[in-house]
Amino acid sequence: MIIKPFKEASDGEPTPRRGLLRLLTCGSVDDGKSTLIGRLLVDSKSIFQDQLSAAERDSVRYGTNEEEVDLALLLDGLEAEREQGITIDVAYRFFAARNRSFIVADTPGHEQYTRNMATGASTADLAIILVDARKGLLTQTKRHSFICSLLGIRDVVLAVNKMDLVGYSRETFDLIVEAYGKFAQPLEFGSVIAIPISGRFGANVVSPSPLTPWYEGPSLLDHLEHVDVSAEANAQPFRLPVQLVSRPHSDFRGYSGTVATGSVARGDDVVVAKSGRQTVVSKIVTFDGEREEAAAGDSITLVLGDEIDIARGDVLVDPQDRPAVADQFACKLIWMDDDPMLPGRSYLLKCGTQKIPARITTLKHQIDINTLDQRAARTLRLNEIGICNISTSASLVFDPYAHNRRTGSFILIDRSTNATAGAGMILFPLRRATNIHHHDHLIGKTQHATLKQQKPTILWFTGLSGSGKSTIANQLEKILHDFGYHTFLLDGDNIRHGLNRDLGFTDADRVENIRRVGEVAKLMLDAGLIVICCFISPFRAERDSLRELVGPDELVEIFVDTPIEDCIQRDPKGLYAAALAGKIKNFTGVDSPYEPPERPDIHIRKSEDVTEAASRIAAWLLPRIKSA
Ligand code: ADX
Repeated sequence: MIIKPFKEASDGEPTPRRGLLRLLTCGSVDDGKSTLIGRLLVDSKSIFQDQLSAAERDSVRYGTNEEEVDLALLLDGLEAEREQGITIDVAYRFFAARNRSFIVADTPGHEQYTRNMATGASTADLAIILVDARKGLLTQTKRHSFICSLLGIRDVVLAVNKMDLVGYSRETFDLIVEAYGKFAQPLEFGSVIAIPISGRFGANVVSPSPLTPWYEGPSLLDHLEHVDVSAEANAQPFRLPVQLVSRPHSDFRGYSGTVATGSVARGDDVVVAKSGRQTVVSKIVTFDGEREEAAAGDSITLVLGDEIDIARGDVLVDPQDRPAVADQFACKLIWMDDDPMLPGRSYLLKCGTQKIPARITTLKHQIDINTLDQRAARTLRLNEIGICNISTSASLVFDPYAHNRRTGSFILIDRSTNATAGAGMILFPLRRATNIHHHDHLIGKTQHATLKQQKPTILWFTGLSGSGKSTIANQLEKILHDFGYHTFLLDGDNIRHGLNRDLGFTDADRVENIRRVGEVAKLMLDAGLIVICCFISPFRAERDSLRELVGPDELVEIFVDTPIEDCIQRDPKGLYAAALAGKIKNFTGVDSPYEPPERPDIHIRKSEDVTEAASRIAAWLLPRIKSA
């Protein structure tokens, strides 16, 4: 039963052998997914390799069977994902049929579905949505369909399973198909085809079943072997994210990567998206020699007509149809980390071969995927989906996801754990207000610093509340002042009375606190000052971001390492007593974390008293801040 038709090779013509098809299977826990996959594997008598291991890999690489290329592809795909640690909850199974090879991403149906589905779906070409014929459409069926559409899966098979348990009833099947057709209409799938099956008895799985004489469509495998999902990627404009600049010897320079979408031929003009420099393709080199043309999915090396500056992360594109180049965009974001998303924190954004630090500047709202309603939210937790604005620290080359799945999706990586924290789909670029420009002042940092005869520097004190940061910093400032240096002291308690009076002590507020203070300290650095900052600044990620904000030699990290027991004993403001009695929430060291610096520039231990510590810092600092 075709709800929405797919493109099929016209009758009579031999069907061309189709490439690899990445499938996602989803549905509720009891819908019979495993049985169906098992049935496909066994009945198609495919060489199936469940959970490929490294040992098998060599035989594959050097084997001579026809599937060699596909298997290698499979392995490469898995490796890339494993690198990011996102396959944990998804089992990939491989099988090959007469006309095509398949990778099935099997995602468990329990509550971590969003993360698992997003992981499987981010690479899937087609989704098989299983429904139990006895139960019809369930909430889970609808949720999964919604996520599939959100992730840009265009082709869907509605597999109405367990037909044996409803006596292969056409009426039951028709009712389910009708209901699904209505439900799925706004999801804008490219094709939806419904097939009545019995995974248990193999009806319509591999071959047509005599038990459903009323069904005239293809069996599931037949459909999977013939459905054409590549047409879309090939019809899209040419995009080649450069993975490697290859220079084996001085008279060869090539740019290697996998064609994300579109095609390219020798003699075509191409443009480097970011710089706008245009040139012509003089050679297309592949593993099997030179070629005239290459298309989506091909791994190629391009030799270009002109020597222009191209590096890993650049994207070569069709000059007539260029992608967006921007440092801000709106997106849908699925959060996949156990730690909630923190607006303002710097994550590493990976889009194709580009890797750029990025921050979520605004979380506009969260989407309730049961009701599709929008909900106000300040953060996203595991499995939650939101609409956000993201700003990157350099411009990014991309297409809106709706135009191009390959160049319109990205992942966010937690910079300290290197785990994938979120996956996103770009909606549209955001332009900076055109009336805001950076001014080049006649009197800048250099002039300010020269007049003050000092090297502008930020001295960043971190440590627990009551560790002695402010006391040491005060004495240090006095010493520097007496030596004639121009200083300014920024302190948590003071800033929180003014600029940051709207912030509390949640993780998100602390991230924003440090971000704002960093920006203020940077302005003061431009004014030529020695800026002394005293903030608990409990998170490594934010302290690392400061180093990115200013030059590496402009920031000195000073860790005041007083053990919590001593801080509790001192308790200068009585806050520890209140926190331990449960009267103050989120208190650092009590019920909120502190991540000590791994390699501070200066480490103050409790054995040093305030005067010793201040003198030691001053002695270290004075030769460094003297102007040259
Ligand atoms: S930070 O974590 O965002 O860097 P900041 O240094 O600005 O904190 O402010 C810390 C000061 O706020 C502490 O020295 C303490 O006086 C006060 N304070 C009040 N409540 C808390 C709390 N829950 N946790 C830590 N400090 C608190």
